[in-house]
Amino acid sequence: MADKTPVIELRNVDKSFGPIDVLHEISLKVNEGEVLCLLGDNGAGKSTLIKTLAGVHQPTRGEILLDGQPVRFSRPKQAQEMGIATVHQFGGTFPLMSIGRSFFAGVEPTRGWGPFKVYDRKTANRIAVEAVQNFGITRIDDGDRLVGGLSGGERQSLAIARAVHFGARVLILDEPTAALGVKQAAHVLRIVNEAKRRGLAVIFITHQVMHAMAVGDHFAVLIRGAIAADFRKGEKTREEIADLMAGGESMADLESSIEGYMESHDGHVPPPVH
Ligand SMILES: Nc1ncnc2c1ncn2[C@@H]1O[C@H](COP(=O)(O)OP(=O)(O)OP(=O)(O)O)[C@@H](O)[C@H]1O
Ligand SMILES: [Mg+2]
Repeated sequence: MADKTPVIELRNVDKSFGPIDVLHEISLKVNEGEVLCLLGDNGAGKSTLIKTLAGVHQPTRGEILLDGQPVRFSRPKQAQEMGIATVHQFGGTFPLMSIGRSFFAGVEPTRGWGPFKVYDRKTANRIAVEAVQNFGITRIDDGDRLVGGLSGGERQSLAIARAVHFGARVLILDEPTAALGVKQAAHVLRIVNEAKRRGLAVIFITHQVMHAMAVGDHFAVLIRGAIAADFRKGEKTREEIADLMAGGESMADLESSIEGYMESHDGHVPPPVH
């Protein structure tokens, strides 16, 4: 285990935007078939970190290694071509496209030749439906349906199946379950486990400790742009993880102070602190 080359690794990565330092000395590794959960409160730097991995931003200092080789992406497309796929909160697919079209977006199969080349709808639909069904998304059986008509969970799952189909090795999921209800979130978590079983290195960002615990092998908590804790599955309890995410404050203390406030304020909840 210890000497396996990670699929993706960050070594002492810093990211600043002009005078604003957002990420500090980030070092992380993700092996094949492992899920790293990246936890942290709003503004901790999670999105900045994954944008740096996905070629949207370049690190100010430090290195990114893919299969042990240093890489530098000047555009997101370069990262994608090297197998780093990012799926955003709403699946990143196109609501007005059919499932078949959106699955291939830009690389559609064609039939005919030269100027007579046309989009091969049947083939696109067949491949797309097969790929998503293989992933356990059996409710998608018609490639002509519009993506906009799918549920949030199905859209997320479609985006994940698509990334895997096109050869992604690193799958970055930025809050894929944030906008979903319990059942749909469970469905997406199952798809994440399937991606892991297929050997991808997955980076899963979430605010929800239960979702993290359902899929994570390894956890990193980001606080104000630095890794505040880094541990493996089973090393911390759900309460400890929640406390870490709250920036080291005990959630139990926080809850009791909210209760105290409510008792002395006629049952009203405290105003939000922002
Ligand atoms: N392009 C930028 N220029 C300047 N500051 C930025 C830029 N992008 C992000 N930041 C700052 O970096 C910090 C981290 O932002 P980021 O979006 O990475 O947080 P996050 O952990 O993803 O938060 P959330 O949970 O709300 O999505 C914030 O304070 C943000 O204002
Ligand atoms: Mg974010």
